[in-house]
Amino acid sequence: MKKIRLGVNIDHVATVRNARGENYPSPLKAAVLAEKHGAHSITIHLREDRRHINDADLILISSKLKIPLNLEIAATQEMLKIALKHKPNFVCIVPEKRNEITTEGGLNLNHKVNFIKKIINKLKKNKSRVSLFIEPSKKDIRKAKYLNADCIEIHTGKFCNLINENKDFNKELNRIKKAVIFGNKIGLEVHAGHGLTYKSAKILSKVKGITEFNIGHFLIGESIFEGLSDVIKKFKKILN
Ligand code: PXP
Repeated sequence: MKKIRLGVNIDHVATVRNARGENYPSPLKAAVLAEKHGAHSITIHLREDRRHINDADLILISSKLKIPLNLEIAATQEMLKIALKHKPNFVCIVPEKRNEITTEGGLNLNHKVNFIKKIINKLKKNKSRVSLFIEPSKKDIRKAKYLNADCIEIHTGKFCNLINENKDFNKELNRIKKAVIFGNKIGLEVHAGHGLTYKSAKILSKVKGITEFNIGHFLIGESIFEGLSDVIKKFKKILN
């Protein structure tokens, strides 16, 4: 069976750095260390307000990394230009609201559809694999296929919140399971991300058909106690 890939999101190394306006801890150092300890790709989200990763980080990380870089961007002209220039191996298009603490849900595929389609085609021609960050909804998955995305990344935030709050998560788990089956059936690669912890990743790793998990906040947080390399090893073991 094909191995499930672990994408390590290092945005929150930059959050810690930016909290003091210093030049440490270094997101590049985290990316290189994650690569050394078995991450399959590195994810960074260049936000419009540059609240964590900034343009200089993107340049440094994309020049040093040997494993694929997954650049998360909002569907804007500015971000399209940046992604076309830096040619990351993977691009994930995400929704972005200026005042949100983190990405609150999947993309609204009723909005800016023609622009999203144009972005996807331009990025694919530029040799980036393109993914859309969406809710586990059949309607959105069908739209992602129509828009010619290579992959979808299912927003697992709601599922993870239910687990963290010790609430019944079975309905949401079933929604995700159905979404994965449908996505695979219509020829999309299916990924998962947002809010994942050891516990939620373990449950979702049992859902057949998810090929990549992108994990950041919990992983970086746990690294304070266990070290980045041990946390990566533990997640890889859980996923496979
Ligand atoms: N995948 C996508 C598309 C994201 O936007 C994010 C960050 O919001 C993540 C994965 C990682 O989420 P987290 O930091 O909660 O693990």
